[in-house]
Amino acid sequence: MNLNNSVFLVFFAMVIASCQSDPEVNFESQVTEEYRPAYHFTPESGWMNDPNGLTYLNGEYHLFYQHYPDSTVWGPMHWGHAVSTDLVNWEDLPIALYPDSLGYIFSGSAVYDAENSSGLGTAENPPMVAIFTYHNAEEANTSSYTFQNQAIAFSLDKGRTWDKYDKNPVLQNPGIRDFRDPKVSQITNPDGTKSWIMTLAVLDHINFYSSPDLINWSLIGEFGNTIGAHGGVWECPDLLPFKTPSGENKWVLLVSINPGGPQNGSATQYFIGDFEDGQFTPDDTMIRWIDYGPDNYAGVTYSNLPTEQNRTLFIGWMSNWIYANQVPTKVWRSAMTVPRELSLFDIDGTLLLKSAPAKELTDLREKEYGVKDRNSGLPSEAFEITAETKSDFFKISFSNETGDSLFVSKENGLVSIDRRGAGESNFNKDFSAIHSAPMSWEAKDIRIFMDAASIELFVNDGELVMTSIVFPSSPWKNVAVSENLNSLKIYNLKK
Ligand code: FRU
Repeated sequence: MNLNNSVFLVFFAMVIASCQSDPEVNFESQVTEEYRPAYHFTPESGWMNDPNGLTYLNGEYHLFYQHYPDSTVWGPMHWGHAVSTDLVNWEDLPIALYPDSLGYIFSGSAVYDAENSSGLGTAENPPMVAIFTYHNAEEANTSSYTFQNQAIAFSLDKGRTWDKYDKNPVLQNPGIRDFRDPKVSQITNPDGTKSWIMTLAVLDHINFYSSPDLINWSLIGEFGNTIGAHGGVWECPDLLPFKTPSGENKWVLLVSINPGGPQNGSATQYFIGDFEDGQFTPDDTMIRWIDYGPDNYAGVTYSNLPTEQNRTLFIGWMSNWIYANQVPTKVWRSAMTVPRELSLFDIDGTLLLKSAPAKELTDLREKEYGVKDRNSGLPSEAFEITAETKSDFFKISFSNETGDSLFVSKENGLVSIDRRGAGESNFNKDFSAIHSAPMSWEAKDIRIFMDAASIELFVNDGELVMTSIVFPSSPWKNVAVSENLNSLKIYNLKK
């Protein structure tokens, strides 16, 4: 840190006792368990990775997720299930999909088949349809390459119970080891008819399929084996229509990649271009990342949002495959990111994707601590900081009573989060690190979301985002900010 540049204002906090928990105690009493976040979704117990089947229906945001209920390490995948009416309070529901003789239930999506095109419901009660990958673990241990196939399941009671389609799989593997993570959306063709489009990760590229009924799929295009980042396998794609700031139609293709991200390990790249007749044509060959921190992976967007919401809503998995199986939580493993609203913005003629915190997050604000309240300091483990920056520079440090510190800054065109001294890190040699990202344009304001074991930094309302998990040995107690941050506000966030 360059202490000469800035005078630090120190805010003292109320001490919130660190709640060390016994892994044997029952789940109800785990709300204050060590590292359990207050407003980020975590499974009650067991392992979680990717968000799946993000769908909105009748006032409920559904969040399905890769889940292994019997252990805190990855294993036979199920789809866990939670719902929310406000994107910040989640109700955990019974597991939606269990593995069966065809395999584990890998990542995928869900849609509301309003016109009952699949015939799996009725005109009066159309189905919600989940499209997922069956991963046959036994076959994966042989020399066969056809152990991942796409399948569907349907629900006629708003996602509460599910039946698998009896003629699964609906899309057979042609002989490619990595053939997974179907993301389905509906498009309206020039002649007014509707088609379902499946975007599928196929080893090092994307395949696009089309279907009239979610059951019969035809390959209509391929993209990407000679473009973009290729440091690892391509996973969890998503294809999204947007308007540019000047009102042009553009498509964005999200592609998660592991390893090969900008901070090593897992990350999500995106392409901006045109999509027509199954062909995705990128505007350029630039490599862009949705989040420059180490811990936002496999993120996808909601289907079936009411048009009046006029937004594209994204949730990612807040971890990284480098250490996801080793992070020091005891009863559950990993959390989702806060929900984010994606849109395109323009910097000197270059289009980029912005991820702003979803507007519902402001409902979590309980009490504001302005600069005048500086002696009241950090209110709890769950808080938000907003500030305006002057002169394209800022520096913030968090510290606690047990000697940990976490630094956030923009200096010399680099935005950084330094978690080297931020708490427990010995579970994996690559965890302790400073992560930086270039930002050539001016940082004007920041929002920081802190929870028990994470920090999410949004510069200029998400023009640059960094997400990082951290495991402080006691709650953050003090925050110190550089002098050139104005209008500083600290909000205690509701549990
Ligand atoms: C991404 C991923 C997906 C796969 C799932 C398995 O994190 O590897 O490609 O479907 O996790 O749990």
